[in-house]
Amino acid sequence: MASVLDIGVDLGTASVVIYGKGKDVVLNEPAVIAFDRDSRNVLAVGEDARRMIGRTPSNIVAMRPLQNGMVADLELASAMLRYFVSHVVGKRLIGGPRILISVPSGVNDTERHRLMTGLFETGARRTQIMERPIAAAIGARLPIGEAYGQMICDIGGGTTDIAVISQGRVITSNRESANQIGGDQFDDAIIRYVRRKHNLLIGELTAEDLKINIGSALPRNEQFYMEITGRNLLTGLPKVMRITSDEITEALDDPLHALLETIQAVLEQSPAELLADIFETGITLSGGGAMLTGLCEAVSMALKVDCHLADAPQECVARGCGMTLENWGEYGQFLSDRRKRR
Ligand SMILES: Nc1ncnc2c1ncn2[C@@H]1O[C@H](COP(=O)(O)OP(=O)(O)OP(=O)(O)O)[C@@H](O)[C@H]1O
Ligand SMILES: [Mg+2]
Repeated sequence: MASVLDIGVDLGTASVVIYGKGKDVVLNEPAVIAFDRDSRNVLAVGEDARRMIGRTPSNIVAMRPLQNGMVADLELASAMLRYFVSHVVGKRLIGGPRILISVPSGVNDTERHRLMTGLFETGARRTQIMERPIAAAIGARLPIGEAYGQMICDIGGGTTDIAVISQGRVITSNRESANQIGGDQFDDAIIRYVRRKHNLLIGELTAEDLKINIGSALPRNEQFYMEITGRNLLTGLPKVMRITSDEITEALDDPLHALLETIQAVLEQSPAELLADIFETGITLSGGGAMLTGLCEAVSMALKVDCHLADAPQECVARGCGMTLENWGEYGQFLSDRRKRR
């Protein structure tokens, strides 16, 4: 891979996306790392590690070092981040990259500092953090600099960042909210549903396949189905079963309502003028979780406001960081920590 100059990084709980300045998205990999339990040696990172989930012998662990919007293992999170960044920037003798990175809101200051410090090992010359919703909104091409309310709802794997933004600042958000809803919670709901209804135990990768392939937030006109293999809980043996799209819609009902309530709560806290703006322009969805079929329509129907899905939704945060590096004069002012770290 040709090395890139400065980069925008979205360190997510489900995936890591890197945007190379002046290029485009140059890396998009699952945020998974596999390591030897005894020696802690890293064995695989990204897609290779993801394929190992639920399939490793007892001495090997394949895991996501960030979970539910928080750091589950800081050392592994830092190793994974350094691996991906080094892969993209390559080896350079002089002029290391400048890195603008967005991390889940549940990552605390000490952990942020450790992750940033770790990046200097890749040769980085400067690292800065960008707030998630601001990066997502820029990546979704919302005109956030205007004195006009915009709502972005970035639905990831473990977290959803919902924010009302005006003049480049987050005015209200769900940042302090304890219950995080992301695509993982949708997968968990599918696992629970299939176990309850069919006495069948399925893994998280199968649940995610069901969600992506036949899942829908609203009932579909046309019924789809998918054949899956799980463990029959009555016999303990493998069993093949056909699951329909309506069943997945039913399974997703609870997390969907939790998500809608979280969006509504942020709207309710927002000043009336900004609320009026949002009802005019609508809500923008980004993040991989936003790609669930029918989700935009479900949000629109429940909250009685237009809803748009951003282009390449899963790349918005990394793209927003990258676009900020490319158009520093326009977007650099929106970095909340700009003065502190200059
Ligand atoms: N087509 C699809 N339909 C439904 N869900 C999808 C689709 N594609 C991806 N997802 C879901 O998107 C989620 C991952 O999104 P994304 O990569 O944006 O998360 P992330 O940024 O790593 O997480 P976070 O923002 O919580 O840190 C997963 O739950 C995945 O199952
Ligand atoms: Mg994300």
